Amino acid sequence: MTEKEKIKEEYREKVQKLLKYNRSYFERDNPIISDSEYDKLKQELLNLSKKHPYLKKIQDLGNIIGSKPSVKFKKVKHSKPMLSLANAFDKEGMIDFEKKVKNFLNISSQIELSSEPKIDGISASLRYENGKLVYGLSRGDGTFGENITENLTTIKEIPKTLPNCPNIIEVRGEVYIGKKDFENLKDKFANPRNAAGGSLRQKDSKETKKIPLKFFAYGIGEISSSIFKNQSDLLKKLKNWNFPINQHCKVITSIDAIEKNHKELEEIRSSLDYDVDGIVYKVNDLNFQDRLGSTSNSPRWAIAYKFSSVKAYSKITKIVIQVGRTGAITPVAKIDPVTVGGVVVSNATLHNEDEINRKDIRVGDTVTIQRAGDVIPQVLSVDKSKRSENSKKFIFPNKCLCGYPTKKEISLTTKKTDAVRRCIRGYECDFTAREKLKHIVSKDAFDIEGLGKKVIDNFWKLKFIKEPSDIFRLNYEKIEELEGWGKLSIKNLKKAIKESSNISLDKFIYSIGIRHIGQENAKILGAFFKTDKKFSELFNIKKRKDILKNLYDLDGIGDTQVKSIEDFFSNQKNSNFIQSLMSVLNIDDFRKINKKGKLSNKNIMFTGGFEKMSRSEAKALAEENGAKILGSVSKKLDYLVIGNSKPTKKKIEKAKDLKVDLMTEDKWYDLLNR
Ligand code: IVH
Repeated sequence: MTEKEKIKEEYREKVQKLLKYNRSYFERDNPIISDSEYDKLKQELLNLSKKHPYLKKIQDLGNIIGSKPSVKFKKVKHSKPMLSLANAFDKEGMIDFEKKVKNFLNISSQIELSSEPKIDGISASLRYENGKLVYGLSRGDGTFGENITENLTTIKEIPKTLPNCPNIIEVRGEVYIGKKDFENLKDKFANPRNAAGGSLRQKDSKETKKIPLKFFAYGIGEISSSIFKNQSDLLKKLKNWNFPINQHCKVITSIDAIEKNHKELEEIRSSLDYDVDGIVYKVNDLNFQDRLGSTSNSPRWAIAYKFSSVKAYSKITKIVIQVGRTGAITPVAKIDPVTVGGVVVSNATLHNEDEINRKDIRVGDTVTIQRAGDVIPQVLSVDKSKRSENSKKFIFPNKCLCGYPTKKEISLTTKKTDAVRRCIRGYECDFTAREKLKHIVSKDAFDIEGLGKKVIDNFWKLKFIKEPSDIFRLNYEKIEELEGWGKLSIKNLKKAIKESSNISLDKFIYSIGIRHIGQENAKILGAFFKTDKKFSELFNIKKRKDILKNLYDLDGIGDTQVKSIEDFFSNQKNSNFIQSLMSVLNIDDFRKINKKGKLSNKNIMFTGGFEKMSRSEAKALAEENGAKILGSVSKKLDYLVIGNSKPTKKKIEKAKDLKVDLMTEDKWYDLLNR
């Protein structure tokens, strides 16, 4: 090797290293070396390229440095959570949204909606106190954001002061990079959204300043005095305060107008200088918004109507099955890689056995692939004219990857046979177990940063983790020997795991992944069990029987959920694993959300229809005021609220017998000052 070649080789190696560090920082948000080590490497590369200008041809450093790994930003609790949005993909989805809103509010008249382009960027919340910007946060996990004030203040479009505004006001909006500006950053990031995210989270705000970030405001968080009546007024006021408001925002009423509006924006979409992936529709009346409230993840008063997905054609080379965390068997088509809307796709879901039969999908078929938003690409249809003569019908395997037979269950509510086959072995099936572990570490569960799906796959392969409690007993010395793990990333992982071992009871219940127990049901169960000690009684067969009987009293818990809990805990391996997990955790008692509420600690039930609000709104209000909603009349019930329209006589009689307090619809409104 000549001297020149040696230098080139050294340069190449160092560039590869730097790229790897950049990736682990930006893509995985998990820096694997310290700042100083990174800086040293960067300096070495700069020196080399200065001394030997020909190296620039191999890789121009301007494109890959300057993105210094960040120290973690300080986490700050959002005064009001930053929720995400439910999605609609077609007209039916929007009709359904409108219907739900009207039902909840118990009104039949037209509803005004504020229509706003959904900018595909990074959301941020800006807090102003006495007219001055005091700090700005990233969305984070919705409850805690990161303090990225310095970086946000580099954005020229964000006002630093607001004239004549409430003492406290938080303005929320989307940070983005224009498509034209992105052209210069193409080598560093996959798309404008990643570029905006990466730039916003730079450690050094001088680096952020170099990147032309922009901002659109779309809403507010905390406000000390409510001065707006409508979302559209709010946007106008934000505009007066000099916030950029998207020019395509408008107010709309009928579903037909929504469809027209959707088409219009979709047509001009590619000509806009920012990425838009749909339209957000928000109930315009803020009083209605307040009444509608939100579920655990998203407001009931808003929806994102996504633009139609992009399609492409490809060929199925193989059909394989995947096992999900509930044992669900999903067939997946392996296809010749094809770009669908800028993303290379080589897998597409086939949903289930029935779907394959209905569409008669076979290996070797030419198919249409569709990708919509963040949803997994799917096989839409088969072009049978391109099918070869000797193609054979696909026979769906009736065994799980673990080798055991799968089952199609019969739904307890609809009495219909499920379309999905399942492996029902829980943790006894290695394939289900691995997915359950991925669920445990996921964002809404234990939320362990640095322990994502890929890492779980790797640790599973290496037998570092076989059951949930292993996460809390990792051998870090062994991990340190692995490629891609450095001192810093191990320190971060240790810290994240330690922090996550303090968990609230309801989150814990959600995390262990009992089928049919999502976040909402986990909260209901958390409120019922209150302590981990009581929850542990589920491990005892006799006690479990009594507990399960009592669960029927809870609103939202029925046959399906009770059977699923029974199935979960009667599986010995599941039970052992969960007990062993509990022994390494510190599970906090369930916190009553509203201790001081007017109905605190009361059990309440509703019967009949109400005149001024829907049953769902009545329930939501009762819960906000600290009550627990029961699903049947029992001794435990404190109040039975009787709506004016068709209450159930039997329930009233039974409540009278048990000396439960009865409350009329009018008294209910009085109680809530409505
Ligand atoms: S409203 C509770 N309005 O979409 C309401 N969001 O999945 C939540 N977004 O995180 C936000 N444009 O980053 C709202 N006009 C708009 C928006 C918008 C873009 C983003 C935002 C949010 C995500 C919702």
